[in-house]
Amino acid sequence: MNKVIFITGATKNTGLAIAEKFAENGYDVALTSRRTDDAQKTASYLSEKYGIQSVGYALDLQSVDSIKDVFAEVRHDFGRLDVFVGNSANLGVDVDILNATEEDFDSVIDVNLKGNFFCAQQSAMIMKENGGGSIVMIGSVHYSQAIWGRVLYTASKGGLVSLVKSLAVELGEFGIRANTIIAGAIHTERWDVQTPEQTAKRRAQYPAGRESFGEEIANGAFYLGTDLSATVTGTELTIDSGISICLLPYKKHYE
Ligand SMILES: NC(=O)c1ccc[n+]([C@@H]2O[C@H](COP(=O)([O-])OP(=O)(O)OC[C@H]3O[C@@H](n4cnc5c(N)ncnc54)[C@H](OP(=O)(O)O)[C@@H]3O)[C@@H](O)[C@H]2O)c1
Repeated sequence: MNKVIFITGATKNTGLAIAEKFAENGYDVALTSRRTDDAQKTASYLSEKYGIQSVGYALDLQSVDSIKDVFAEVRHDFGRLDVFVGNSANLGVDVDILNATEEDFDSVIDVNLKGNFFCAQQSAMIMKENGGGSIVMIGSVHYSQAIWGRVLYTASKGGLVSLVKSLAVELGEFGIRANTIIAGAIHTERWDVQTPEQTAKRRAQYPAGRESFGEEIANGAFYLGTDLSATVTGTELTIDSGISICLLPYKKHYE
């Protein structure tokens, strides 16, 4: 029987790269998108390319009832769960402190913190039955480094790091580990709209000389998700091109 990973928001970018990393290593993959079609298309792609079982579920992390329903389906469809990766996020862009509404607050915190909490809870219930597992949350350097217009995102990612430490403490006795990847800039389609000059300028700010690609975050998720890191729990793995050791200039926007 293959091991099983459940990853949220895995139809593109970092989430898809993580799903592919586990699939190519023989894991069956349960994945989500808010859109049924996209989730199912990605699952079919993974099944065909890697010869594994994959199922795509529609899930909006703002609904705790939906989270519980999807986990019940995963338990039914796969019968076990070895790795959960909380990748989905509301990026909470351009929400400044003086203008933020209650709706802004709820839409970011409900996905990034509340949604991930209930996913971790539901994961742990299944993992406990199969003798253990690993929970990996995708965090951000902005959990500790503030950035203009991202107050709710930074707060949510800060909460996530604290949440993971409690998961590690309370769930350790069931063989369940929990860790956070602290990601810096990751290449997504959002980089494609920049001019080459803008890209070069951004890259020049990072000690490692460029942003991470999804595959590099996936390597970290694979390490934390598997027995390669059997004694690593409650901690953070930073994959950030060295961004968080630098004092970036205080600017409203990147130029
Ligand atoms: N990109 C970066 O530079 C960067 C830097 C540091 C950390 N990170 C973190 O890395 C992770 C992946 O980032 P990314 O840039 O690759 O992300 P992305 O593709 O922009 O977003 C990840 C996924 O989140 C899902 N999502 C958004 N709102 C949701 C909701 N209400 N319910 C369920 N899913 C929802 C979306 O899936 P659907 O549209 O399919 O539902 C989306 O594909 C995130 O946790 C992000 O905070 C990214």
